[in-house]
Amino acid sequence: MARLTILRYPDPRLHTVARSVAAVDDRIRRLADDMLETMYAAEGVGLAATQVDVHERLIVMDTSDTRDHPIVLINPEITWRSDEMKVVEEGCLSVPTIYDKVERHASVKVQALGRDGETFEMHAEGLAAVCVQHEMDHLRGKVFVEYLSALKRDRIRTKMIKKTRDEQRDA
Ligand code: NI
Repeated sequence: MARLTILRYPDPRLHTVARSVAAVDDRIRRLADDMLETMYAAEGVGLAATQVDVHERLIVMDTSDTRDHPIVLINPEITWRSDEMKVVEEGCLSVPTIYDKVERHASVKVQALGRDGETFEMHAEGLAAVCVQHEMDHLRGKVFVEYLSALKRDRIRTKMIKKTRDEQRDA
């Protein structure tokens, strides 16, 4: 397995719309495994292929407290959304150190293919519901900061550009 480089906002590649995975083969399984390793190393709860500059519909997540329940979702589709909405503070591995409140459906049902290509349905609530909606946004080129005001987004963009520049200088 290998750790992958995570694109950082405002990298324009984060706005790429992902295409469907054509076949769940060894390449896709290796990508899923590498994404899980990258997500765990970065202490994230979810990661979309978009964030590692692969523009195919694949996400990985683990919202368990024990960090030992990896979930791979290939070509995920939301089949049901609760009417109830919930506001939760979110973060993103592509926007490190930034956390802010986003309103999403409190629970959703998602149908996807798993790592072995089998179809499964997941009923997500709580953190898992937040995570799967956040990651599926990435697949359509949307980063959570786009739910915030233009003023906040501009501040975050400036902060991230400076952070990246400082890190490159110190490297
Ligand atoms: Ni994210």
